[in-house]
Amino acid sequence: MKLNKDEIKKALETISVAGEGQNMVESGALQNIVTFGDEVVVDLKLSTPALHIKKRAEVDVMKAIHEHVYNKAKVEVKITVEAPQNKSNVNEIKGKPIPGIQNIIAVASGKGGVGKSTVTANLAVSLSKMGFKVGLLDADIYGPSGPIMFDVANEKPLSVKKDGKSKMKPIENYGVKLLSIGFFTKPDQAVIWRGPMAAKALNQMIFDADWGELDFLLVDLPPGTGDIHLSIMQSMPITGSVIVSTPQNVALADAKKAVSMFQQESINVPVLGICENMAYFTPAELPDHKYYIFGEKGAKYLSEDIGVPFLGEIPLVQSLRESGDVGRPAALQEGTPLSDSFTELTRNTVQQVVSRNKNLPPTEAIKITTMAGCSAVKNK
Ligand SMILES: Nc1ncnc2c1ncn2[C@@H]1O[C@H](COP(=O)(O)OP(=O)(O)OP(=O)(O)O)[C@@H](O)[C@H]1O
Ligand SMILES: [Mg+2]
Repeated sequence: MKLNKDEIKKALETISVAGEGQNMVESGALQNIVTFGDEVVVDLKLSTPALHIKKRAEVDVMKAIHEHVYNKAKVEVKITVEAPQNKSNVNEIKGKPIPGIQNIIAVASGKGGVGKSTVTANLAVSLSKMGFKVGLLDADIYGPSGPIMFDVANEKPLSVKKDGKSKMKPIENYGVKLLSIGFFTKPDQAVIWRGPMAAKALNQMIFDADWGELDFLLVDLPPGTGDIHLSIMQSMPITGSVIVSTPQNVALADAKKAVSMFQQESINVPVLGICENMAYFTPAELPDHKYYIFGEKGAKYLSEDIGVPFLGEIPLVQSLRESGDVGRPAALQEGTPLSDSFTELTRNTVQQVVSRNKNLPPTEAIKITTMAGCSAVKNK
């Protein structure tokens, strides 16, 4: 049997590479097809080093050829990984690069209590489930919630020696490495820090920590658009930001401010997109009903209005609150509508990171010497 290259190409159009959105041919992943009788070698180029995504691509290619072309074809899949642009660029970034960390994603909201920490924790778990190496920096110095959400509130990061220097070792659970100011304060102790002290503590958790190799470091920001946000952006080259909002007008107004903060010329951190949290309520006993308690699709409309991607919607579900309180993020489950909504959010976010890294230069850590930038944000 002589295999036909066009038929193979058509078959490959039915599958996509995780995180790349388009099909394998459109996304440019397919490099070459070589056939000899009933043998075929497919060359792919992927932009992610995650082993699990490579394996998945291999299996999908074999399946597609067996199902759509010839079920006895001998298929060999060769995969090369295009050096992710950010990796080489990170080392060139002026300011302080963080060796080994490929992408830093800041999660912000403007308004407090809209679910940043919940979304960040579940995004982290979802990324880890997809095979990425993930770290989470809980940068909410006023109300750190990371240790509780990951059920590690009683742990203390140990100090390890790395290249002759003492480094803090993040606490790991569910495949996510976590550092939080909450590890260093008593649970009932109010942390009222002035900007410079907070910035110093955060800097230590960023640069004096042994994060190792990470595909993603997620940064859970405190609410607002204040000086702590600026100091984080001064310290690290943030790949992009995710804005969380409920569909409610007051939250949307603050989400818009957060978007403007990142887009300010002096800050210039790409906004990867908006996530709508508490998008609707579905009671457990009426799974087909959706109640739009905070309004319908407000964050989706905002994203369209201001021209930033919409990353997904997370419903308001009692079990999500409960899973946060007991420290078992809901995204750990498989196949529930809730974990599916986090998977969708995560896929879209990864896709935006990949396209951001393809199309834009790396972000430089910003240098702001006055708080002028901050008041400009507040006045927008
Ligand atoms: N989609 C949801 N369904 C149910 N409960 C939720 C949802 N999202 C968040 N919550 C709950 O709402 C509360 C606030 O969420 P969370 O702490 O994640 O918000 P935040 O934006 O990080 O708050 P802060 O501004 O204080 O940092 C938590 O008790 C959390 O469990
Ligand atoms: Mg929070």
